[in-house]
Amino acid sequence: MYDFAADSADCARSVEAGLSERLTVGGLSGPGPSAERLVAAMRHGSLEGGKRLRPLLVRQAAAIFSVPKQASLPAGLAVEMVHCYSLIHDDLPAMDDDDLRRGRPTVHKAFDDATAILAGDALLTQAFAVLSDPTCHPDPEVRVRLVAELAAGSGAGGMVGGQMRDIEGEKGGFTEDEIVTVHDMKTGALIRASVRMGAILGGADLRALSALTYYAEAAGRAFQLADDILDVTASPETMGKATGKDEVAGKQTIVARLGVDGARKMLDGIVNEAISALRTFGPKADGLRATARYFAAREK
Ligand code: IPE
Ligand code: IPE
Ligand code: MG
Ligand code: MG
Ligand code: MG
Repeated sequence: MYDFAADSADCARSVEAGLSERLTVGGLSGPGPSAERLVAAMRHGSLEGGKRLRPLLVRQAAAIFSVPKQASLPAGLAVEMVHCYSLIHDDLPAMDDDDLRRGRPTVHKAFDDATAILAGDALLTQAFAVLSDPTCHPDPEVRVRLVAELAAGSGAGGMVGGQMRDIEGEKGGFTEDEIVTVHDMKTGALIRASVRMGAILGGADLRALSALTYYAEAAGRAFQLADDILDVTASPETMGKATGKDEVAGKQTIVARLGVDGARKMLDGIVNEAISALRTFGPKADGLRATARYFAAREK
């Protein structure tokens, strides 16, 4: 029986240890030495806290192909670095202007705006250094595919493009489809990349990769929908970040449109869709099934 609580806690511990070991003045790529203040800000934005769900998805997708969890960790760390960078920049005054993240002051509050921008830039760059290092995977072709996958999930056609659309959406006038496109890009793209990177590590064939991509796209959509529901229903203490902000920002969300109950119904439907895509994999995909359920059931 797959134990979600145990596997996710184990993964979170490995991610914490892996990031802490790598994000040091001597451990970062480049002729260096890295500035101590920069490394401190990178650590502040990525250590202690965080559900570490993206590395968990890498691990669970790779597990379908019997990849040992240690072997999927570097790729998971790379995705988590990009995710943490996206949060640091998302919180900046020029973006969501948030003071609290993971129960602590945001990086620009603990340091300053310029340092937060640079810490994000450095985490993004370090992610690709991790993926291109032979310790990530012995086969250079696999490493190149991982790099391409994370680039696709992170950039203008993925997370960053979604963040741009999200800002444009604050002016109003988005259709429901356009709101969903924002979700798919700003949040779904990195979740999609995480699952596909696990599949790539496992040497998935095209059919398996496309089934897992379908799963990931639904799961990513579910994840942001749940985030928007929690923005309305949860407390800042539980979330470790401000809530009730989407309405204040004039953000057009599915929750604003359908109400909490309508949004929850939609969320349940999307989670079922995600799980149905895993049909062919049998019990080896129980991890991914449990995570999709968690995406809808999570309380923070
Ligand atoms: C928050 O992501 C930002 C979104 C994409 C909605 P998480 O809810 O995964 O944040 P952490 O990493 O656990 O703090
Ligand atoms: C953020 O969406 C998605 C990112 C790419 C960072 P939100 O702005 O809703 O995330 P939170 O609520 O601040 O975590
Ligand atoms: Mg935002
Ligand atoms: Mg935000
Ligand atoms: Mg949010």
